[in-house]
Amino acid sequence: MLQIQNLKSGYTGMEILHGINFEVRPAEIVALIGPNGAGKSTLLRSIFNLCEIYSGKVIFKDKNITKLPTHELIYQGVSYVPQGRQVFSNLTVKENLEMGAFIMKDHELVERNVKDVFNKFPFLEERQNTLALNLSGGEQQMLAIGRALIQEPELLLLDEPSLGLAPKIMKEVFEKIKKINQEGIAIIIVEQNAKKAVEIAQRTYILEDGQIALQGGREILEDSRIKNIYFGGR
Ligand SMILES: Nc1ncnc2c1ncn2[C@@H]1O[C@H](COP(=O)(O)OP(=O)(O)OP(=O)(O)O)[C@@H](O)[C@H]1O
Ligand SMILES: [Mg+2]
Repeated sequence: MLQIQNLKSGYTGMEILHGINFEVRPAEIVALIGPNGAGKSTLLRSIFNLCEIYSGKVIFKDKNITKLPTHELIYQGVSYVPQGRQVFSNLTVKENLEMGAFIMKDHELVERNVKDVFNKFPFLEERQNTLALNLSGGEQQMLAIGRALIQEPELLLLDEPSLGLAPKIMKEVFEKIKKINQEGIAIIIVEQNAKKAVEIAQRTYILEDGQIALQGGREILEDSRIKNIYFGGR
């Protein structure tokens, strides 16, 4: 569904990713893990055209989507939830969701999609008129994911959805992510919580210094080197 071919990208002329090959198959969860500064967020930003691409290609459903503008990427079926739960603090929950639909002209469709998100996240419906700044961290994260879902993505890019969340809330967020995936949405998930991400993913890539150091299925949980570095030796 998504193929990244020999991608080199970065910022202001500085190459951060040095020739990445990466693939997502339909309805798959792919985990992307690696140390701080490895370039995980940069890889998601490269797909979403938020950094500089020096060479290589991003192919989505057999179409070259490299460097397409944001609204066009969303229209093609790719949505992105950036690191750090970026919600509009001074807008209500419902307004935040509607902002996700900025490319949609059909208001009935927007309302329908808002309803769908409310079904998935009932607390968002209960608190639809609350300002986003009054939600807890976990609730804001789910709102950010809900806002992306309004766009009806086929591929969802999630950057550190569990960052800074208490374990119980983190578990809930992972459950929701699994559910979203079960409805047929492919997901790339970047995670600090490597073990949890690898467990819900069909496949995992490990990124180190702008290069793919390793890829594999859940069996990498048993790899002793990987265990020590990424799974806290457990
Ligand atoms: N907007 C930017 N301008 C210049 N350099 C940047 C920018 N964003 C990130 N970088 C640099 O790119 C490199 C990779 O950063 P990136 O955010 O992709 O890493 P990461 O793997 O997501 O790390 P973390 O786990 O800390 O989120 C780092 O050296 C970082 O300093
Ligand atoms: Mg990051």
